[in-house]
Amino acid sequence: MARMRVGVLISGRGSNLKALIDAARDPDYPAEIVTVISNRPEAQGLEYAEEAGIPNEAIDHTLFAGRPGFEGAVSETLREAEVDLVCLAGFMRVLTADFIERWRERLINVHPSLLPAFPGLHTHAGAIAAGVKISGCTVHYVSEKVDSGPIIGQAAVPVFSTDTADALAARVLNAEHRLYPHCLALVAQGRTRIVGHAVRIAGKPESEPILLNPAEE
Ligand code: GRF
Repeated sequence: MARMRVGVLISGRGSNLKALIDAARDPDYPAEIVTVISNRPEAQGLEYAEEAGIPNEAIDHTLFAGRPGFEGAVSETLREAEVDLVCLAGFMRVLTADFIERWRERLINVHPSLLPAFPGLHTHAGAIAAGVKISGCTVHYVSEKVDSGPIIGQAAVPVFSTDTADALAARVLNAEHRLYPHCLALVAQGRTRIVGHAVRIAGKPESEPILLNPAEE
């Protein structure tokens, strides 16, 4: 079966991009990363693409008068690469409704909280301040409202009383690196279907284990 052609948009470190690239090294993985675009030329993540021999490009948003011009250039590169699906991976630009409409149901994102809790920035500080005992990450389809599209998958991690925002971020990031390739595979296999605001996963067994924090003594 032909692998789904994926473009990844980044802005910085690119560790989620790396997780996707690593997953796609397996010839049986149902998606391949065919282009990587960063809106920031200095993004470290571009090096992961370079090392893996994946075409990559910086499209500096500051060189455009407005979002539509920038997004037009991004869309053009995605179109030239014949991309079927776009993955946002630490991409820090809010997208216009036009771009989202153009890529509707073909645009997914990873967010470092259990949405709908803690959308936006500073999620880990927010989770700690709220005293939640479990946090995690979410992979979702992108819709016009930031961090609120239909949820494809989530992974949970405990929040410990000793956690700093950085410690929690590192634990959640680890979970992101497992969740994102898993969810991309489900989408690429055509197993996800948006029903209302939910995503149904075809052929996916529900799993039983619970994460209990604090643990029972
Ligand atoms: C991740 O935590 C992602 O969820 C958030 O920004 C961070 C990007 O990290 N949107 P990286 O660039 O993938 O390493």
